[in-house]
This record gives sequence, structure tokens and C-alpha cells, in this order.
Amino acid sequence: MSHAETLFRPFSSEKLQLKNRVVMAPMTRTYSPGNVPNDLVVDYYRRRAEGGVGLIITEGTIVDHPAASGYPNVPAFFGEDALAGWKRVVDAVHAAGGKIAPQIWHVGAIRRPGIDPGGDTPGYSPSGMAVPGKVVGHAMTQEDIDDVVAAFAKAAKDAKEIGFDAVEIHGAHGYLIDQFFWDGTNQRDDGYGGDLAARSRFALEIVRAVRAAVGDDFPVIFRFSQWKQQDYSARLCETPEALGAFLTPLAEAGVDIFHCSTRRFWEPEFEGSDLNLAGWARKLTGKPAITVGSVGLNADFLPEDGTANFNAGEPASIDNLIERLERDEFDLVAVGRALIANPDWANKVANGEFDALAAYERDMLRELR
Ligand code: FNR
Repeated sequence: MSHAETLFRPFSSEKLQLKNRVVMAPMTRTYSPGNVPNDLVVDYYRRRAEGGVGLIITEGTIVDHPAASGYPNVPAFFGEDALAGWKRVVDAVHAAGGKIAPQIWHVGAIRRPGIDPGGDTPGYSPSGMAVPGKVVGHAMTQEDIDDVVAAFAKAAKDAKEIGFDAVEIHGAHGYLIDQFFWDGTNQRDDGYGGDLAARSRFALEIVRAVRAAVGDDFPVIFRFSQWKQQDYSARLCETPEALGAFLTPLAEAGVDIFHCSTRRFWEPEFEGSDLNLAGWARKLTGKPAITVGSVGLNADFLPEDGTANFNAGEPASIDNLIERLERDEFDLVAVGRALIANPDWANKVANGEFDALAAYERDMLRELR
């Protein structure tokens, strides 16, 4: 039996206080026709807040740039109607005792023309590539870069104005910001390309602009990953030293919390230490870190490629998670698919009702439950 109460200790940092350590991971759901979050979306997030989640991070929501969207029916984070929809989400979550941050997003070269908003606009990216070596869209000019930086800053400012509790910048998984980080998709020879420090310049400009837009007191979360959806084996940083050199400037630019995306939280990030990616981010920057990856999914059923369905029950991995939390390896724990299957995952785990947890199945994505 695990000491699940550790997950339910309050979290308190300079700018963010949460009732517990459970974070809802950002998950794209494509249920916002016209790119406007509607009543179904309001209720979907309300259920997770009622279900005990400390901090909800919304699905990726696109910034105001014609090439930001890569999928139909994702919610926008601009325009009167979409922002009014988000305001209703925020109010519902707050009324249920939760807190919430939007994940602001630009897909970069993943985009294909024909997705709205954006119409015929092609994918925009550092070098026109979604995968290394294959040009599929437009390589961004300085003006494009400035426009996107401004769009992220505007979204963050709106998040604060609407009443969100924090903002998360999506710098992970091979989307636009990560396309700049990754040498495979960033072949620029101006100040935005070169070594990882140079490839980080775009992200640093976004973080600084976001910080300037929201002021000093509003929490800014930055999500990053080593892996890319285009290549699960991709790595930005091979050593702790490289990771420190990557994250420190981001922290200095204004990131308060690092959200370290891994697919299995228990995997050590570097040889010679048990620390996972979040553990290293916290140790190297001194900033709070969120871990994620297969929490609440039964490790016994986890296939090597991490793609299939999972059983629930009391997963062996929960003990490992709690031990790490007790050691302060990381501060917060994001839960994705287990929260799709169980809107009240947090309350059930808090009450030790592991047997009552439903197993995640991919079919559950067919509706906004
Ligand atoms: C995701 N994930 C994700 N990540 C992100 O940063 N922005 C996003 O919009 C999405 N969208 C998304 C949709 C769906 C249906 C899934 C299942 C996942 C990744 C997610 O945040 C999380 O990192 C992974 O799901 C791993 O956590 P779990 O599911 O193993 O707890």
C-alpha cells in the first residue's frame, strides 16, 4: 500500500499555491467547433476540478498566428468568442475549488494547409521542416518570428486577464518551439540556429515577452521534452551539464516551473543516477518541476513503444512515484490518460479506492467524458 497522502500535501511556491500535487496533463481533445470551447468543454474541465485535481493544464490552445493550428476543432486562445468560452471554463474550475492554466501552442511545421483557422497557410518553422531533411513548408523570416513571439505574449496576457492561475508555454514534442530547439529541424545560420544555446533564442524571446506581458507575479510554466513525436529517440541534452546549460537561461528569462515531459516517469534520465528528467531539472535550476508519464497506468501492461492501452487497478508504479515525491525529486505530478478514464482520479486515489479506477482505453477519446 502506498502513502498516497504525500500526493495530497499542498504545494506552495512564491507565485503558485495548490491544494495538492496532482496536475492534469495537457491533452488535445478537438471538441471545440469553430475553435471555441463550448459547454461540453466547460463541463469536462469542471469534472476534473470536482474530482480533486490541484492544477489543470488545458489542452494545447493556439496562439493568434495564421499558422498556429495543426488540427481541426482545437480551441483558439484569441478572439472574443474563444476567450469568452475559456472564461467560462476558468469560472467553472474555480467554483469547483480547482486552479487552471492554459497551454499556449503553435504547431509549426506539423501544420498542413486546409486547417482552420489559417486556411491555406502552410506550416511555418525554423527551416521549413517537420522532420529532419524534408522541406514541407515555410522557413520563418525575422518578421514571422517577431509575430509569433508577440502572439505568445498576447495569449499569456489574456490568460492573466481572464483569471487563469498560470500559463504554460508548449515547448515540447516537436512543435514549433521544439522545432527550433532540435538540430534536426533547425538548420538556420542566423542567430536562431547553431548550437543549442542559439537554437534556444526563439524560446528565450518568447519567455521574456511572456514575462513582460504578465508581470512578475504570474506563474509561467514551460513544458519541454527530449523526445519528439517525429522521433521518440531524439535527445536535446545528453548530459546533466548540457541540460543545465539548456534550462538555466530559460529560468533566468522568467520560467517559474519546468514541466518535464517523459513517457515513463520512473526512467532515469542519465546514467549513474536514478533521477528522472524532472528530478534533474529541479536539481539543476532550483525551480519546481512537474513530472509526467504513465502515472496511474499499470506498469506491468506497458509495452516498450508506450502506445497501447493500459489497465488500471493499483499500479505498482504508484509506490515508486510516492517515494520520489517524498524525496523531493520533483514537486508536482501530471496525470494524463488516467484522468481521461477517471475524472475523479485524484479523489479516488486520495481515498485509497484503487479498485474503483477504470482502465484507460483509447476509445475513451471518442467523446468528451
Ligand atoms: C497528449 N499530450 C499532450 N501534451 C501536450 O503538451 N499538449 C497536448 O496538447 C497534448 N495532447 C495530448 C492528447 C492526448 C489524447 C494524449 C493521450 C496526450 C501528452 C500528455 O500531456 C502526457 O504528457 C502524456 O499523455 C503522458 O502522460 P500519461 O497519459 O501517461 O499520464
